[in-house]
Amino acid sequence: MSSRNGSDFIVVANRLPVDLERLPDGTTRWKHSPGGLVSALEPFLRNHKGAWVGWPGVADAEVDDFEEDGLALRPVTLTGTEVRDYYEGFSNGTLWPLYHDVVAPPVFDRAWWDAYVKVNHRFADACAKAAAPGATVWIQDYQLQLVPAMLRDQRPDLRIGFFLHIPFPPTELFMQLPWRAEIVRGLLGADLVGFHRPGGAQNFLWLARRLLGLEPTRGAVGVRTRPGVIQVGDRAVRVGAFPISIDSAGLDAVARKKETVNRAQQIRADLGNPKKVMLGVDRLDYTKGIDLRLNALRELLTEGRVDPTEVVMIQLATPSRERVEHYQRMRDEIELTVSRINGEFGRVGHPVVHYLHQSVDRAELAAFFSAADVMLVTPLRDGMNLVCKEYVACRHDLGGALVLSEFAGAAAELTSSFLVNPHDLDGVKNAMHAALTIDPAEGRRRMRALRRQVLTHDVDRWARSFLDALDPDSNH
Ligand code: ADP
Ligand code: G6P
Repeated sequence: MSSRNGSDFIVVANRLPVDLERLPDGTTRWKHSPGGLVSALEPFLRNHKGAWVGWPGVADAEVDDFEEDGLALRPVTLTGTEVRDYYEGFSNGTLWPLYHDVVAPPVFDRAWWDAYVKVNHRFADACAKAAAPGATVWIQDYQLQLVPAMLRDQRPDLRIGFFLHIPFPPTELFMQLPWRAEIVRGLLGADLVGFHRPGGAQNFLWLARRLLGLEPTRGAVGVRTRPGVIQVGDRAVRVGAFPISIDSAGLDAVARKKETVNRAQQIRADLGNPKKVMLGVDRLDYTKGIDLRLNALRELLTEGRVDPTEVVMIQLATPSRERVEHYQRMRDEIELTVSRINGEFGRVGHPVVHYLHQSVDRAELAAFFSAADVMLVTPLRDGMNLVCKEYVACRHDLGGALVLSEFAGAAAELTSSFLVNPHDLDGVKNAMHAALTIDPAEGRRRMRALRRQVLTHDVDRWARSFLDALDPDSNH
């Protein structure tokens, strides 16, 4: 609810759910923002009529507050230098690789840190302005870890939650960060700090003891239960695990539509009706293991275990963080591997890998999921990964098989998938082969179990479990 005195419920994230796009003719339009955070939170927030504080996705965009479909959007402006130092720099050149098991080396740059502090202040100010007295503010993700404490300084009346959408790293990696104590102090401004997995919560509790000399509780944190507690002055900060999910019923309904079923058939026909279709759907990110699944396919083709006249792979890759060097390098490597595979194993009119560096809309995505016999989700590290849950939600026909990395948060829940260690190329190849040749009855048994998990644990349950823990008296 919003009133002249501000909103009672506010989500704060680096990005708004919509991105401002500047077109070549100088006009602008809004488009859906990329990534799992927006996919998960947007449907929930639209139903709850909250306000959303975030960046419109381009530099120097001075946009007034506006309403969109019941949602109050509160844009925060970033300059070009801030986009470079706070967003591409500290958020995605330091924190992103550090928190994803240093699969790329993080850069520690003091100017980037200064920009991170400055921009976090701006977000805190925007929240303080937008929040009604006693409001609930829910701060999202690694770009805004200082906002909880900054906001509490200004507005001690607020109830403040923080949720981290990416993995929280092992303590020995976190300890590399020159500003490690500042980050922990920033997060402790919240009343509740949430992670996907108990391991992340446990790591954070350890750091509060080691870095700030606090005395957290010692019991094991459970999934949605038994949060740890840290006494910070006169406040008790709770630290828990809340695995995120998707709008499962909504996506299931899209997949059941006649148009989606027809479109899925059309996609297979366009591919030449191959016996098997494999699919990858990711932001083009070096953590996602797109390269390793392509390398696994290439070896399977070379060894003759996969027949290029029978099997086709589609890789949808949303453009992402395109000015960050590691992303550019990864894109070049992926595109080289795709063309090598097609050069060696394709025929005229029949490439083996169909690679689209594009984003597609939800209905089209549901059709791709419905058309795919094998879904490849092979990140080296992923906080949760929503794509695998989306695939499962679309398979009301109980068809399809999921190959899933053990290093995605979702692996703990989707145990009936083909779980793989993405560092073990032979293991990935064997799992891909097994998924391609699965007995249909066994496939249905596995998919039924996966669907039970995904349909009962949806994003609404995630949000409610977090908000209930944040404010047990409120009705979410
Ligand atoms: P991340 O948040 O790291 O990007 P997730 O798997 O959690 O990873 O979420 C990715 C979200 O982006 C999902 O909702 C997925 O459907 C969407 N997505 C990824 N690639 C594409 C694409 N090419 N077109 C449309 N949506 C995509
Ligand atoms: C992940 C992060 C989000 C981020 C999204 C897209 O889901 O957890 O915070 O918004 O990726 O990345 P981008 O850098 O384009 O916002």
